[in-house]
Amino acid sequence: MSVKTFTLVIPNDINGLAQNEEYCLLVCDNRYRKIRLHDYHEIYQIPGLYEYLFYDLLECKSPEVVTQALIEQVKQSQASSDLIVLELGAGNGIVAEALTNNGVETIVGIDIIEEAAQAALRDRSHVYQDYLVEDLTNLSSEAREKLKATPFNCLISVAALGFGDIPPLAFASAFNYVNDEGWVAFNIKSDFLTDREPSGFSQLIHRMENAGILDVHVKQAYQHRLALDGRSLQYVSIVGTKQTSIPQSMFEELS
Ligand SMILES: C[S@@+](CC[C@H](N)C(=O)[O-])C[C@H]1O[C@@H](n2cnc3c(N)ncnc32)[C@H](O)[C@@H]1O
Repeated sequence: MSVKTFTLVIPNDINGLAQNEEYCLLVCDNRYRKIRLHDYHEIYQIPGLYEYLFYDLLECKSPEVVTQALIEQVKQSQASSDLIVLELGAGNGIVAEALTNNGVETIVGIDIIEEAAQAALRDRSHVYQDYLVEDLTNLSSEAREKLKATPFNCLISVAALGFGDIPPLAFASAFNYVNDEGWVAFNIKSDFLTDREPSGFSQLIHRMENAGILDVHVKQAYQHRLALDGRSLQYVSIVGTKQTSIPQSMFEELS
């Protein structure tokens, strides 16, 4: 059993803050340190803080919702091959652990920050076959070779798209490392799928669907987590299959 080694204070002035502005105060040596909930490089360095904040306090359900939706689709399809998963925005391995608990044996994690890889190794060392610290919009040649050499038949990304985290271009790049007919499972804030949304995800996903690049099997709206002020944050979980790679012309528009 892990022991909580930190003390957190939720400030009074958090009402109505945007999701990427939410913060809490960590008590350290009798002083308060402000930590934004999206300061993952700081959060991962404190064992148990990510889990306490997002899962215990804010009741995040996304790893469970997205992995269950994926596993159900895979079972229904009666496809016999084992999943070889590329996990984008892998963090400290909570999604990979959920997949492992469902019998998935091969997962390669990718995240842009070193602290995520270190936390995954510290907290869930058994769940990844490999873990790359890379920017998918500017991959090292070594990472490109590794990704090309692995016959991925599944891409998953949970709680990581948009908000200055993973941009559409990085998602598109990861998508193209998955084989045709491979599974694609991710979640995204419901607001990010509306027409005038500026992150570019709404446009990308609609274009992928319309062009027959992504065949969406299920879309499910649900509560991703609570905001610090108690509001419900609504997301959509999407599971589909890749039909073909995103063409270069679409990449040029995303750059
Ligand atoms: C909210 S965490 C989610 C982690 C994990 N998927 C989970 O559900 O517990 C978002 C993760 O996305 C990662 N991230 C942000 N921008 C990224 C990028 N451009 N490429 C890869 N990972 C990124 C962050 O470092 C962070 O680990």
